[in-house]
Amino acid sequence: MSILIKNGRIVTAEADYNGDILIDGEAIKAIGENLDSEGHTILDATDKIVFPGGIDPHVHLDMPFMGTSSSDDYHTGTAAALHGGTTMVIDFILQTQGKSLHSALQTWQEKSQGKACADYSYHMAVTDYNDQTKSEIKDLIEKEGISSFKTFMAYKGALMIDDNQMIGLMQEVEKQGGIVTVHATNGDMIDHLVAKFRKEGKLSPLYHYLSQPEITEAEATARFTDMAFYTDVPAYIVHLTCEGALNAVRKATYRNQKVFVETCIQYLLLDASLYDKGFEGAKWVMSPPLREKKDQSALWAGINQGLVQVLGTDHCPFNWDQKKMGENDFSKIPNGHPALEHRLELLHSEGVRKGKISWNTFVAITSTNAAKIFGMHPRKGCLTVGSDADIVIFDPNKEHQISASTHHHRCDYSAYEGWQVIGKCETVLLRGKIAVHHNELQVSPGNGKFIKRGTVSKVI
Ligand code: URP
Ligand code: ZN
Ligand code: ZN
Repeated sequence: MSILIKNGRIVTAEADYNGDILIDGEAIKAIGENLDSEGHTILDATDKIVFPGGIDPHVHLDMPFMGTSSSDDYHTGTAAALHGGTTMVIDFILQTQGKSLHSALQTWQEKSQGKACADYSYHMAVTDYNDQTKSEIKDLIEKEGISSFKTFMAYKGALMIDDNQMIGLMQEVEKQGGIVTVHATNGDMIDHLVAKFRKEGKLSPLYHYLSQPEITEAEATARFTDMAFYTDVPAYIVHLTCEGALNAVRKATYRNQKVFVETCIQYLLLDASLYDKGFEGAKWVMSPPLREKKDQSALWAGINQGLVQVLGTDHCPFNWDQKKMGENDFSKIPNGHPALEHRLELLHSEGVRKGKISWNTFVAITSTNAAKIFGMHPRKGCLTVGSDADIVIFDPNKEHQISASTHHHRCDYSAYEGWQVIGKCETVLLRGKIAVHHNELQVSPGNGKFIKRGTVSKVI
């Protein structure tokens, strides 16, 4: 089947022009002006923006965490992603401490097998670095196409590794051509504050926020950045939230070090005043927590300064009943919130329309840079001849409201309930197939493919 997208405004990370895109099978066959319509299914993109399908490199689907599991699985999570113009996600495999990386991979393969509607890949979270783990890294990169290794500097006892393990992992990953990513907050400082607040009987969601002050993130970010410099490994910080952490990255640039930074849509748009709502604040209990207005300004500026290259969501939804596990103790509220479906539309409405970022930057941070950093470019993240035809046709003027009653996440609340948004993904194509058209999902579970990724470099 061939599809011709006609008369769109085509936007990539580098360019912005009017034209047509011809798709043959799964890939883009031609791009140009006035391409011949004969024999093709036509999608009219007049007055629409045409850009590469989004890549969300930070989601948690069906993930066991804090005594429960995130509520979206591979089916519902990737379906919601497609509705919001995201055609590929990268999920996190969690190694069980004491067990191998390959056994964790097998568990995640079982979770995703035949279920994904959108394309996907995995980061491997190394929670127990030892000689056995070390011996598995090469195989994961070369045979399995998993070239990114996630680390946690917090969540002691379950996920956290110490600096000795971090340095060992960095050296091995550097040798084998991968990248180390990090949840950079100081776990011991946080655990100290959590214990203190619990002892004082301060148990509401507000104390989740107060137990992770900015310095816990700034300190860990600087330490991680130093270890990455020492080992010379390609490095990436997930869900960076605040000015202090960004300044640590900025400081690293003075010695010509490149550390990639991801922030998430919630840290640009939401702030810590939401923790003043009593237990309702549990909706936004995530780690790191929401920050201050000054941090939002620093992050928008960081994007425009090229210090922040990627926008994710850290989509990790829990239903309200699950959140209520921490009704009497903030430290038992499962950390995470639903966001995957809304990333592109919110960023357009609040970022592009309000003049905070350009259209090119929008594409760079929602798709192209993640594809480059994580070894999928130019197959993914761009609109060029030969690339996968992962394409969004976007109506920049269509107004709609976000609500749990209309979103596609498997979550009974929305973190953005009632938000008025301008701009909607009208048609979403995944590898040349119409996946969503006017709010209708047109693909089934199993349509999404696992994408093997290549080795990575320190610069993009
Ligand atoms: O609150 C969060 N972020 N939950 C998911 C796990 C993580 O730290 O990314
Ligand atoms: Zn995290
Ligand atoms: Zn996460």
